[in-house]
Amino acid sequence: MTIGVIGLGYVGLITAVGFASLGNKVIGVDVEKAKIDKINRSEPPIYENGLKEKLKEVNPNLTATTDMSALKNCEIIFICVGTPSRKDGSIDLSYVKKSAEDISEIIRKSDAYRVIVVKSTVVPGTTESLIPILEKSGKKLGKDFGLAMTPEFLREGSALEDFFNPDRIVIGAYDDKSKEAVSKLFKGFGQNKFYTKLKTAEMIKYASNSFLATKISFINEIGNVCKKLDIDTYEVAKGMGMDKRIGREFLNCGIGFGGSCFPKDVRALIAKAEELDEDPKLLKEVMALNDRQPLKKVNLLKKHIPDLKGKTIGVLGLAFKADTDDIRESRAIPIVDALLREGAIIKAHDPQAEENFRKLFPQIAYSSPEEVLNSDAVLILTNWKSFENLNYKGKLVLDGRRVLKAKEADKYEGICW
Ligand code: UDX
Ligand code: UDX
Repeated sequence: MTIGVIGLGYVGLITAVGFASLGNKVIGVDVEKAKIDKINRSEPPIYENGLKEKLKEVNPNLTATTDMSALKNCEIIFICVGTPSRKDGSIDLSYVKKSAEDISEIIRKSDAYRVIVVKSTVVPGTTESLIPILEKSGKKLGKDFGLAMTPEFLREGSALEDFFNPDRIVIGAYDDKSKEAVSKLFKGFGQNKFYTKLKTAEMIKYASNSFLATKISFINEIGNVCKKLDIDTYEVAKGMGMDKRIGREFLNCGIGFGGSCFPKDVRALIAKAEELDEDPKLLKEVMALNDRQPLKKVNLLKKHIPDLKGKTIGVLGLAFKADTDDIRESRAIPIVDALLREGAIIKAHDPQAEENFRKLFPQIAYSSPEEVLNSDAVLILTNWKSFENLNYKGKLVLDGRRVLKAKEADKYEGICW
């Protein structure tokens, strides 16, 4: 099939590369020229395991451009543009609406039936709200074009693996014709396909991400209590996880969740609920705990070094999680910010995220891991595998992400275990 993908960020690019590697012809569109040029040179604009090789492999099937009209012959067009948070936490749908307007222009000029598929994470009701924009083309939904919503469940750092091995594929479809077209595209995926309504598919995404975020804040709350009882929360999580109703995954306590999805999606769901005169107290507390958790790390440091002014603090890990260069909502941001406000001198290392972090914090030093270890105290904020090979002997290490090798330090403390 010939597929269009609008928005070549973490989600759009993986979607484009994934479907291209399955033999489809894919045309990707993005507003960032630099990103387009890199993709056409088969250079990954983001760090993602296996992406460099995949981009080379799919090169003949994938072209990237800034020109939206290149999508005119696509049978399926995915919308994967950003859906950032507004100041009040509600979702900014302007890019999604802009994409719908651009697509409306395309379908106005052609009689070929095609399906528009929203993949960006959008609050329930959004996909249907695009219908009037798309019908401004003079074409009729159902007769001239189809509409679907297939939420993304990719985790950064394992995005390609998640694309090819999804637990489930959720397909919200406007009608049978849309459903048939989209399931034809996914035919190679034997995995569980779940067909549902457009806004149910939208809600499955929000409910899934909000549940996972809740699970993390839950284990962090348990961890904060366990720490005071000198109990290893990771042992507790192991015992809990043996109950299949609970499951061990997403019970790793630490400095909290970051990334471009959990914080944004929980905030958007809270805002949507309040718009509907609901008061999502549980979700609000999930976010409040997540905001407090990084500061526990600073307080723990001040227990060891009460006056941080002029002290050198080493920071290992800046990305919001391991195996990515993404620092969006990374828990390292509030921690570094608080340390700077206390007058500390910071030396940081991250295998992939230093360039992105430097844009926010040009004033701190970026060094080798060995150099970072040569500090008054060392904070571990991301659990990169490479951190398991460092020598922590004789150091003061405060661990926010459970790097076991660090336990050899002279003084080692976990934030919530
Ligand atoms: C994005 C959304 O943020 C997320 O909520 C949704 O689940 C999937 O799409 P991600 O790929 O991580 O996730 O976003 P981002 O990395 O910000 O990429 C968005 C891309 O869209 C960027 O490359 C941006 O340049 C592009 N874009 C944005 C357009 O091409 N056109 C626009 O009008 C706006
Ligand atoms: C998440 C969802 O997992 C994915 O399904 C969705 O499509 C996008 O959002 P992602 O944000 O890429 O994926 O990473 P994830 O592995 O979920 O981690 C998110 C954050 O939670 C990271 O900051 C991570 O450090 C933290 N986390 C994760 C914990 O603190 N504890 C855990 O047990 C798991």
